[in-house]
Amino acid sequence: MCGIVAYLGDKQAEGILVEGLKRLEYRGYDSSGAAVCNADGQLNLVRSVGRISNLAEKLDKGHLSGTAGIAHTRWATHGAPVEKNAHPHLDHTGKIAVVHNGIIENFGSLKKWLISKGATFHSDTDTEVIPNLISHFYHKEGQFESGTTNAKKLEMATRLALTELVGTYGITVICSESPDMIIAARKGSPLVLGVGDGEYIISSDAAAIVNHTSRAIYLGDNEMAVVTRDGYITSTIDNIPVASKVEKIEYTLDEIELANYKHYMEKEIFEQPDKIRACLSGRIDLNEGSIKLGGVMDHARELVQARKLNITACGTAWHAGLVAEYIMEELAMLPTEVDYASEFRYRNPIIDQNTLQVVISQSGETIDTLAALREAKNRGALCIGVVNAVGSTIARETDCGVYLHVGPEIGVASTKAFTGQVTVLTMLALFIARRRHMSQQKLHTYLDALNRIPDQMAKILEQNDYIRQTVEPYCDKENWLFLGRGYQFPVALEGALKLKEISYIHAEGMPAAEMKHGPIALITKEMPVVFIVPKCSQYDKIVSNMEEVRARGGRILAVATEGDEDIKKYAEHVFYVPDTLEELQPLLTVLPLQMLAYHAAVIRGHDVDKPRNLAKSVTVE
Ligand code: AGP
Ligand code: GLU
Repeated sequence: MCGIVAYLGDKQAEGILVEGLKRLEYRGYDSSGAAVCNADGQLNLVRSVGRISNLAEKLDKGHLSGTAGIAHTRWATHGAPVEKNAHPHLDHTGKIAVVHNGIIENFGSLKKWLISKGATFHSDTDTEVIPNLISHFYHKEGQFESGTTNAKKLEMATRLALTELVGTYGITVICSESPDMIIAARKGSPLVLGVGDGEYIISSDAAAIVNHTSRAIYLGDNEMAVVTRDGYITSTIDNIPVASKVEKIEYTLDEIELANYKHYMEKEIFEQPDKIRACLSGRIDLNEGSIKLGGVMDHARELVQARKLNITACGTAWHAGLVAEYIMEELAMLPTEVDYASEFRYRNPIIDQNTLQVVISQSGETIDTLAALREAKNRGALCIGVVNAVGSTIARETDCGVYLHVGPEIGVASTKAFTGQVTVLTMLALFIARRRHMSQQKLHTYLDALNRIPDQMAKILEQNDYIRQTVEPYCDKENWLFLGRGYQFPVALEGALKLKEISYIHAEGMPAAEMKHGPIALITKEMPVVFIVPKCSQYDKIVSNMEEVRARGGRILAVATEGDEDIKKYAEHVFYVPDTLEELQPLLTVLPLQMLAYHAAVIRGHDVDKPRNLAKSVTVE
């Protein structure tokens, strides 16, 4: 949703801030800026629209000197992505600078009130009320006892200001009158404090920190960190001390480097065999024939006794949830409902002590999913997180959970996280099934098939060049249809989303049978139709659907099972995947669709990792 980086130490801040922003650019990238305090207590600010490289160019022409600074890469919510709306934002005295991730819902009334108190505004953003509100308390006559230091005044003024805000924020604050201090505070948007050797890096996520230190404190909601050259103090916003825990950042720098790939999405597609191997590692035991999920073991009884499962998520994670619905009901015989998180929280869901709530989120910061989690938790459900980002807000607020362990996902279009989520959800279903009714022999069949998935994925990825050549002639088509049945219906949705979000082609996924109830009117040779049609229980029926499309001049690309020669009668192009158990087929059939979308976007000349209007983690509602 945006990237925040702040630095306090003995090095020049500018280079560290820009390098940090570049590692966060996938989170939001319509404009950026930095503010640095120099040794003379001057606060200097540079901002620019567009990519971080534009800011770096500006800084090359006029460096910001100083060893304390804050910086931001923006994903606009209030105010166009123009320079005046870029962060940092200053108060009207120019002494206090703030960068912000989130939305201040009551900014309108605050802005009016602050203007009535003499504040002046220069942007259209909601954020600009924050430095001005801090400034109001900081400069208010009689607010502080005489002799109060500027640093203490800034800290207390920030606390007072934050209690007036309605909405979400992750902020860092710097002031020219206390240049040796940075304040960080969060409510609904993530912030991590990297603890270096005599230096501190504050960031929206660990990606901007891991190059400097692997020691981090994940700030909790309604918490604040006051960082000075002598150390840091963590507390609640209303100043109750919090015992902060320094944790180890789970990944290393090379995991977030591009290596020899052109895009992070390409890297993340191709590392799926290794990452799914890592996801399975230590959790499936072929010799013993067991599933070990340490993160939920303490709640095994509740899982087995559950009478209903609710799954909530957004986007690709929601598609993984739909796959899990089929798997949970088939394997664990657990009645399952899947909701968009944004809808779930505004429904009146039936939840009781026998309800399990699984929340799926790669980033662990998606605010709609977090809100749904809190709703379910308040109603008494046992909440299980299926999350990739270790230490993220959702991971910390669930009762238990299973991390994906697929490494940080940088590309905005989710790929390895999807296959990681489906893998974890399959293991969770088997974990419950074996404790309910599934025989040892049947479990072993699934474990054996799961264990083969990474090698089967690697085989599919060998078709990369063929897929690129195949998709090229279709890249000027502006409407695509993705069709699948059963376990492949969610894969059709996922394939459509991938193509939409990075190639900007309109694509729709739906159950293949549903096409007859309206969308078949759209079929012409100008609309490529992708059928996901592995050998499965509904194979013959979906072949009939393919006939219906062909009869109307539709042009078909198919994902099919290796050895299926018949399918060539219906499809002009076929991407083959190895055979596996029907419940595991989505782990394989999704890969050709990921590659198809990737190549279409590259051929159409788009920025695959930073598609327009999108951000990697949506931390606003
Ligand atoms: C998927 O390619 C998109 N980037 C988006 O739909 C994403 O899956 C969604 O925003 C959920 O993100 P999360 O998994 O981090 O919660
Ligand atoms: N709401 C703020 C703005 O529009 C912050 C957006 C963000 O999180 O990047 O500038």
